[in-house]
Amino acid sequence: MRALLPPQVVVVESYGDVPDARPFPGEEEALTRAVEQRRREYVTVRHCARQALAELGLPPVAILSGAHREPLWPAGVLGSITHCDGYRAAALAREGSVASVGIDAEPHAPLPEGVAGVIARPEERAELARWAGERPGVCWDRVLFSAKESVYKAWFPLARRWLGFEEATVRFAPRDGTFTAELHQAGPVLGGAPLSAMTGRWAVRNGLILTSVTVPATG
Ligand SMILES: CC(C)(COP(=O)(O)OP(=O)(O)OC[C@H]1O[C@@H](n2cnc3c(N)ncnc32)[C@H](O)[C@@H]1OP(=O)(O)O)[C@@H](O)C(=O)NCCC(=O)NCCS
Repeated sequence: MRALLPPQVVVVESYGDVPDARPFPGEEEALTRAVEQRRREYVTVRHCARQALAELGLPPVAILSGAHREPLWPAGVLGSITHCDGYRAAALAREGSVASVGIDAEPHAPLPEGVAGVIARPEERAELARWAGERPGVCWDRVLFSAKESVYKAWFPLARRWLGFEEATVRFAPRDGTFTAELHQAGPVLGGAPLSAMTGRWAVRNGLILTSVTVPATG
């Protein structure tokens, strides 16, 4: 994930769980009904996030969740979290160095039957075969899904509202690892204009799809 984000974003990732990582006070409440896998990913990714805070020169704190499941960062910090089988990552930055960031990881495997039809717009469905022609062996339906999740994670802290899968059109540059997302819902005003598009990066590595979106700082 490090290679998918600009240098001012600190990325800490883990391919396994950290056995001695423990939830901070307050975090335990989010885990009362959690199954063991959820507990492990929750604790490990927060361990990663606290390492990222340390790299930013900040003390370790509990990382709780808001009413929309968004991570609540300490004052002056923004960031994003992802976890999937065999991978956990946190990407954090100082407020002002970027406007927002979203990251997502997925197993590199096709989406379950029927899901692509729900998450892809018609123009994206039409492009899936072309992208596969340019970069065969990539599960493009899942890369599209992951890119949209990264878009949402970068969108939500700025807009504070839902963005559906049908509310963005993602277009990949299959050879250079980048994508753009055209938004079909008016976004919050950033730098004098409503946010209408985002740019991101994608990669397939070690059996994982990794995507990121960075909204640049405006000031
Ligand atoms: C929220 C969502 C993006 C999470 O993605 P996921 O692949 O299920 O799970 P991941 O492990 O990658 O990410 C989970 C993390 O996302 C973060 N997250 C959850 N809701 C969030 C929100 N509203 N805003 C920002 N981040 C959020 C949390 O940090 C969570 O980890 P935590 O519970 O340990 O704190 C997904 O479940 C979802 O609701 N998607 C629908 C909205 C969407 O993607 N729209 C597409 C717009 S084009």
